[in-house]
Amino acid sequence: MNVLITGGAGFLGQKLAKQLLSRGSLKDAQGVDQMIDQLILVDVVEANDFGDQRVKVIAGDISNSALCQSLITTDITSIFHLAAIVSGQAEADFDLGMRINLDAARVLLETCRALGHQPKIVFTSSVAVYGGALPEVVLDTTALNPQSSYGTQKAVCEFLLNDFTRKGFVDGRVLRLPTISVRPGAANKAASSFASGIIREPLNGHTSICPVSPNLRVWLQSPRYAIESLILGHDLHARALGVNKAINLPGVAVTVGEMIEALRNVAGDEVVSRISIKPDSQIEAIVKSWPASWDATRARQLGFSGDENFESIVRAYVEDELNGKK
Ligand SMILES: NC(=O)c1ccc[n+]([C@@H]2O[C@H](COP(=O)([O-])OP(=O)(O)OC[C@H]3O[C@@H](n4cnc5c(N)ncnc54)[C@H](O)[C@@H]3O)[C@@H](O)[C@H]2O)c1
Repeated sequence: MNVLITGGAGFLGQKLAKQLLSRGSLKDAQGVDQMIDQLILVDVVEANDFGDQRVKVIAGDISNSALCQSLITTDITSIFHLAAIVSGQAEADFDLGMRINLDAARVLLETCRALGHQPKIVFTSSVAVYGGALPEVVLDTTALNPQSSYGTQKAVCEFLLNDFTRKGFVDGRVLRLPTISVRPGAANKAASSFASGIIREPLNGHTSICPVSPNLRVWLQSPRYAIESLILGHDLHARALGVNKAINLPGVAVTVGEMIEALRNVAGDEVVSRISIKPDSQIEAIVKSWPASWDATRARQLGFSGDENFESIVRAYVEDELNGKK
């Protein structure tokens, strides 16, 4: 089978590609394991091909319909649509967010519809589709009420994916990811960037400014479980999802203060002393509008699992990204 990852040079795109290459197969629409013959990574920046002959790297903009049509043929039976403009940037540049987070998804869906081969599409949505006056317990079926442009673009894509699936044009599944922490590498323009920065920078010997107050509660998932979830979300039989294609993935609810204490338990006082708190009202307003947890019963019934606690997330980061050194 041939698989396409949009945003294949990004944080999750690269981790997913690596995992798919080592796994070697995915389930087709009938639930039968199929070897991955080719893995296409498309991104505006050039992706790492891991020196693997199954990987084809394409540098380009997926909102360009000619590129999309050249990439997606009837041989592409699975698409992980990860390309996106992150929350802070989509808020700052409305046109860019609309073009990549919404218009490009429409181009991708229409390209599949025109081919008529009903590929599996895994779409990564976010906590940001929820907002406003939220119920005590947020469910997969709680009304979407995004309070940011990024959340609105994700919500519209969820609806489109549901409808294209209902019409039989694609076999879509929407995974609503908690904020992923700890993200390696440099800080990005996501409003939630601090959720990785306050752990990553101090562990790397650098100072970190935390733009939210310690009592702010966030809903997090480790990269390990995010990647496992993307693959399971792909492999699920369409029947298992029923009419609601969106799944709220398991996460860990933790305050920023508790995150800092978990870092202290793993790495000690000196590392924690590199964090300073300087609240930024704009970032706090965006992050506060997101649910601080949700009910993941349906995800667990479908076979998804999650992190034990935030300390285990920090330990996984030290193991996976720092070769165990802290
Ligand atoms: N990381 C998180 O905390 C988180 C949480 C919820 C949802 N998500 C979603 O998961 C997906 C992956 O997130 P990530 O953290 O890997 O983000 P990322 O920013 O690291 O990766 C996204 C990639 O998309 C690429 N891209 C942007 N515009 C493009 C275009 N026009 N054409 C082709 N590629 C383009 C970027 O260059 C980047 O490499 C995104 O859809 C994101 O919204 C992420």
